[in-house]
Amino acid sequence: MMKRVCFLLILEKKAQYSSFKLVQEQVASEAVPPELLKELYRRQLIYRGGLREVCTCLEFIDDQFHAEYDHNPIHHMECRMKSMDSILEKARRRGCEMTADSICGTVRDIAGVRVICNYIDDVYRLAELLMKQECYTVVKVRDYIRQPKENGYRSLHLVIAVPVYFLDGCEEVFVEVQLRTVAMDFWASLEHQLRYKQNKDISSRIDIELKACAEVSATLDRRMQKIFDDLNKMD
Ligand code: GTP
Ligand code: MG
Repeated sequence: MMKRVCFLLILEKKAQYSSFKLVQEQVASEAVPPELLKELYRRQLIYRGGLREVCTCLEFIDDQFHAEYDHNPIHHMECRMKSMDSILEKARRRGCEMTADSICGTVRDIAGVRVICNYIDDVYRLAELLMKQECYTVVKVRDYIRQPKENGYRSLHLVIAVPVYFLDGCEEVFVEVQLRTVAMDFWASLEHQLRYKQNKDISSRIDIELKACAEVSATLDRRMQKIFDDLNKMD
């Protein structure tokens, strides 16, 4: 069994620092040709570059908002790289051809950033500004805020192609950006724990209750937005 090192990058907005935490990980990769694995590791470095690029871009947008409007749209950000095991597992699950190009074309969340915003309008403002960046190409937009998932899940998901310049060239990688409010994040992380982490079948009574909580949380977001807008009108 091959061992590799996985980087977990957590960006704490408030503290204005980035910290890398090294985590040793076992990769169940016996069935994967070594050449493919080597190429995927090479690409992981480029994905990490793409992730940093997008995080820096978002942080700078946030800084500009602070300077211009005395308001920070970003509460905090969480960046993560998908582990090699998860990449291979998702590629197999999606039935894709086991080549690096096919895997990277299918698994478009190898690099992911979750942007937790203060208000709903911040989510859309940030998404718009990100999509306007000339160097990025938007390849997918899923608006689960205007059209929540059946279970009540809300978030705005983007997949963008980001050019990464390195020692002897430039490659584009996909970065998945999930934008949501603090309230949406609160709901999604608890629902995730309940549904995915504990791997339990959720009974329909709990499904209904969770969906109702999502509605309450959406109402709260709208009310907080209204307070914020009203206060700004008075300025
Ligand atoms: P994935 O294969 O999971 O990436 O799905 P997809 O490509 O169809 O994308 P989708 O936009 O549906 O979801 C991508 C990610 O959004 C997931 O990996 C989760 O992080 C998050 N997500 C989507 N649906 C839910 C949900 O119902 N609950 C929670 N907690 N998170 C969700
Ligand atoms: Mg995913």
